[in-house]
Amino acid sequence: YSKNPVFPEGFLWGASSAAWQVEGAAAEDGRTPAIIDLNSQTKKPYADNSVASDHYHHYKEDVALMKECGFTSYRFSISWSRVIPAADREVNPMGIAFYNNLINELLEAGITPIITLYHYDMPCWVDEKYGGWHNRAIIDEFDYYCRVCFENFGDRVKYWLSINEQNMQIVYGDWLGVSKGCTDWFKEKWQINHIMNLCHSKAVIACHELVEDGKIGPVPGYVPIYPYSCRPEDQIGAMNAEELTQKIWDDLYVFREYSSFVKNYWKVNDIDPDIRPGDMELIAQAKIDFIAVNCYRSDVGMAPDDSYKQEIGLNKSGIKGEFVYPNLPGEYALARNPYVEVTDWDWHIDPVCMRYSLRYLWDHYHLPMVITEAGYGAHEELGEDGKIHDQARIDYLREYVYNVGLAIQDGVEVFGFNPWSFTDLLSTGNGMAKRYGLVFVNRTDDDLRDMKRIKKDSFDWYSALIHSNGQEW
Ligand code: BG6
Repeated sequence: YSKNPVFPEGFLWGASSAAWQVEGAAAEDGRTPAIIDLNSQTKKPYADNSVASDHYHHYKEDVALMKECGFTSYRFSISWSRVIPAADREVNPMGIAFYNNLINELLEAGITPIITLYHYDMPCWVDEKYGGWHNRAIIDEFDYYCRVCFENFGDRVKYWLSINEQNMQIVYGDWLGVSKGCTDWFKEKWQINHIMNLCHSKAVIACHELVEDGKIGPVPGYVPIYPYSCRPEDQIGAMNAEELTQKIWDDLYVFREYSSFVKNYWKVNDIDPDIRPGDMELIAQAKIDFIAVNCYRSDVGMAPDDSYKQEIGLNKSGIKGEFVYPNLPGEYALARNPYVEVTDWDWHIDPVCMRYSLRYLWDHYHLPMVITEAGYGAHEELGEDGKIHDQARIDYLREYVYNVGLAIQDGVEVFGFNPWSFTDLLSTGNGMAKRYGLVFVNRTDDDLRDMKRIKKDSFDWYSALIHSNGQEW
């Protein structure tokens, strides 16, 4: 790196987390369960979120460490059921107090809070009252919750994020528990998606109404799709994958109308959502200020046609479940990229995808962006010297940050880098076994040990990077 890209003055250097993955104290001070709590309990032998990283009781220590590292931002989420624990809509003063304390602690440390309103944690009371995401009554309930957040924290918090990875929740609904109560997920997911779009739109409108100088954006989980080959059919397969996992959502947030691709996809498959009078007018009002980008990896898209099936050993007419024959628009298959390595968990390690994603999103949408996730998940345990030498994470982050810098050099507007995560926290599917932190939390899936925070080598590396505003690698 002889010629370093230059990061703008005031660039927000920090890290990211989500309430249910880091807080713990799941049944304390009035918090009631969320669907994701129940989901996490089914992922044995991995830990559930009842204690997580116990950030609820360690937040002062965690913020002090962020300050020591040089953070200027921290992205976290609010637990809806901590703030509004029951169907009577009574606001929980202890929940408000926790987030007030955290926000104040951050501000005193010179760290800008960036808050996600919804990170997979629908309260169980909402689910029980309305029977899951497909009930439109949730739109008002979510609006009420967002307004409580803006009214209580909006005097100090100016960066807000609506719904974390709505696209991934729809694409992986079964896995994330969003499909609860659905009988035909293939069709109903588009109804849930429409309701989420209305929730997102209401959050954007309420933020602009209630938060002076408030800015708000969505958080797509962006996984760019490279074509498997220059075979024309693979180009279309890759485009279809891009549409059906990413573009449908980003187009809606920015252009505030459904694309002709998705409308046609619904029509051909007979899966139109119930779009009522006034819905599109509401969506049209929700003008976002920026896009928050979660970008860990890329994928490879191809046409799921006969030649591909032969290549992976399926017979010409037989389909072994994972692919549907491509007689409908929007079919694709995903493949392993032979040009990049993978993590312990088979995620492509592809720093260039960061530059690619930022370029792609900038070219399509012309909106400022902030990185709200990227990160290296791995098995880790304290060494004999009582430390964690996480060189692989340093290498991953160095290359990813470098590619953010290159995108900025390319002319893209990016105002922050907040990788996943600061302390170790619960992985969505793999508990404490898959660690992402710059700071080790001394617990395992089945042993809470002492929850001590131990700085990994990546902490020192990141601190030097931040203190030089991206010049010292
Ligand atoms: C993001 C989510 O998609 O990926 C996080 O916003 C999640 O909640 C992160 O933890 C990493 O995924 P995983 O499955 O390794 O925890």
